[in-house]
Amino acid sequence: MSATRAASRRVQVAIGGLLVLCLAQAVYWIVDQATYTQEVDRRILERYAEQARGADLLLRHGVAWEAVAEVFPRLVPGGDGGAVLDPEHTDELDRARHHRINRYGWEGSFFLLVLLCGLGVIDASLRQRAELSRRQHNFLAAVSHEFKSPLASLRLAAETLALRKPAGEALAALSGRMVEDLTRLDATVGNILDAGEIEEGRLVLAPQDVALAGVVSDVLAESATRAQACDVDLVDEVPGGLRLRADPAALHAVLANLVHNATDAAAAAGGGSVRLCATPDGRRVRVEVRDDGVGFDPREAERLFEKFYRPGDELRRAKRGSGLGLFLVKHFVEQSGGRVQATSDGPGRGALFRFWWPASPGDGGETA
Ligand SMILES: Nc1ncnc2c1ncn2[C@@H]1O[C@H](COP(=O)(O)OP(=O)(O)O)[C@@H](O)[C@H]1O
Ligand SMILES: [Mg+2]
Repeated sequence: MSATRAASRRVQVAIGGLLVLCLAQAVYWIVDQATYTQEVDRRILERYAEQARGADLLLRHGVAWEAVAEVFPRLVPGGDGGAVLDPEHTDELDRARHHRINRYGWEGSFFLLVLLCGLGVIDASLRQRAELSRRQHNFLAAVSHEFKSPLASLRLAAETLALRKPAGEALAALSGRMVEDLTRLDATVGNILDAGEIEEGRLVLAPQDVALAGVVSDVLAESATRAQACDVDLVDEVPGGLRLRADPAALHAVLANLVHNATDAAAAAGGGSVRLCATPDGRRVRVEVRDDGVGFDPREAERLFEKFYRPGDELRRAKRGSGLGLFLVKHFVEQSGGRVQATSDGPGRGALFRFWWPASPGDGGETA
């Protein structure tokens, strides 16, 4: 944990502690006020009882009731010829007592509620901070791994080139692997830079008229070597003629991330296929990337698009990735006026990622 985060956590814990103290103080205040009100009432009644005893004495010594009533205006004649407290005044005292106790109850409960809300907010923010810190930790572990393995592979390839001077097929295989490693590094750096620009609000999209089929075939061509190495078939079923209103780099990043993820998922299942198709849907075009790979728990579908989110713990797993891909996909699709959706029937049952992207005006998504 950095020094700044530790300091702000200490401040949060201190404020939380103060709130707990205030909570205890508010409960004490309610109980104390209610007890005090009852004590004051008890003393008033005691004083009236003393007055009644004094009035009885005066009456027994022959003082007229009118004179006694003048000295003790709250007393009335009792059944046994003595004096008692006026029942109307007793009711009045009761009502005043209940009113005060009720007021303390309401005011105290309101304070308690406000304090509890404060505690709730602090608790939520502490949890959020802990979750973010866990994800950043995982992200660093993943990014280091993401850089380390292609760099090691490139070093090995360069050493082989220098020492063995291969030719023909061996050279082609080696250079193919180098290109694949460089593509992987390039994609990671691209994702990190894009995420940084989004964070700072500097990423501006420049939409233009783009042919979907062209971007799809570029992305598939870039992924071909890797897919082949993992025994994954890339199937292009996107019809020509569909035109989108898109920033070409953003559309490319969306498709590249979805195809890379699908290839990884199919490769992790021991090979399979990744299928891309697209169809016009009103003023938008629906693009689908379907794979028969490892799939995911459908309850995770929404969370997969969160920044740095990857199911499971990075440190316990060596799978490549940084958790930025789908965050960028969602951002680019939504900023372009579309929406994206992830579905899977469950682990081991493949996945389908769909997004709806605005068609070019005039194209209406209807061109085939
Ligand atoms: N096609 C897919 N099949 C199964 N799981 C997927 C698929 N695409 C994405 N995921 C899950 O979503 C997570 C987040 O994806 P992403 O944001 O691209 O990050 P990364 O690929 O760097 O892990 C992946 O780690 C993976 O667990
Ligand atoms: Mg990814």
